[in-house]
Amino acid sequence: MYIQRRNRILRTNASIRSMVAETIVTPNDFIAPLFIDEGTGVKHEIPSMPGYYRHSLDNTVKEVKELWSLGIKCVNTYIKCKDELKDNTGKEAWNPDGLMQRTIKAIKDAVPEMIIMTDVALDPYSTYGHDGIVKDGEIVNDETVEALVKMSLSHAAAGVDFLAPSDMMDGRIGAMRQALEENGYTKVGIMSYSAKYASCFYGPFRDALDSAPGFGDKKTYQMNYANRIEAIKETLMDIEEGADIVMVKPAMAYLDIIREIKNTVEVPVSAYQVSGEYAMIKAASQNGWLDENKAIMESLTSIKRAGADLISTYFAKEAARLIAG
Ligand code: PBG
Repeated sequence: MYIQRRNRILRTNASIRSMVAETIVTPNDFIAPLFIDEGTGVKHEIPSMPGYYRHSLDNTVKEVKELWSLGIKCVNTYIKCKDELKDNTGKEAWNPDGLMQRTIKAIKDAVPEMIIMTDVALDPYSTYGHDGIVKDGEIVNDETVEALVKMSLSHAAAGVDFLAPSDMMDGRIGAMRQALEENGYTKVGIMSYSAKYASCFYGPFRDALDSAPGFGDKKTYQMNYANRIEAIKETLMDIEEGADIVMVKPAMAYLDIIREIKNTVEVPVSAYQVSGEYAMIKAASQNGWLDENKAIMESLTSIKRAGADLISTYFAKEAARLIAG
């Protein structure tokens, strides 16, 4: 047979395959989410996230040191708020001695070069488990934005590198940027959850922080997963308002959106491989139905190939180890 072009030549062996690989995932790409709890010596496994833990601050610091030693340069922190501190205003969110504020300082003290991103949203602090203040059964926008601004300034005072608002209220990026400017926090960045969909894949995360909505769902603020153009609109508006990095969330079911955003914007694009994506891979692997290591690398590579410059993933540590070989 005469064949002019034999595509299999570039797939002949591992050496040539790696030389012509178009996408390479490195620990540099990762943002490691951390769940933090009060107390000391706490290492609580999240039942719906096997192998993932909620740590007290002492163990969190150990974890951050380990992540740094594996080449991971960024963590995104989420705290579990005590029930007695929750209310409808979310005011514990801007307590200068709150768990989040103490976490920022502890990580900065222990590993100063680690980039710290903090979750900015009211749900862990809300008795209703919603990302905003509730009035007459509705999540009110503008008052919530005022609360998010207070929360942002308290994170900035504690030394955060990037605020990562995950709430999806309108106008919050502009309000946060303005407040940072007015208060002299000109080095604090904003990674906006710009295209955040109302997704069932957040279930295990809400178990981890005990933050499931007490009534209704999040569809009046998070996006309808049927929509594509809206993701571009949200993202462009966040950039206009001052976001340094934008995010698409979840990742695996939204690879088309990641690509489209990447083709449209001129800022770094991140994607969040969320708790439910982690849970699916873990559960199937534990049953012997998937090869876990292969599923981790294939999923992360596909997210990067889709256009993500950064990937927030619960597999950060495992993947960094796999990459190191
Ligand atoms: C809360 C928040 C959520 C996630 C990140 N920030 C849950 C939600 O919106 O209900 C989900 C992350 C994950 O599932 O891994 N604002």
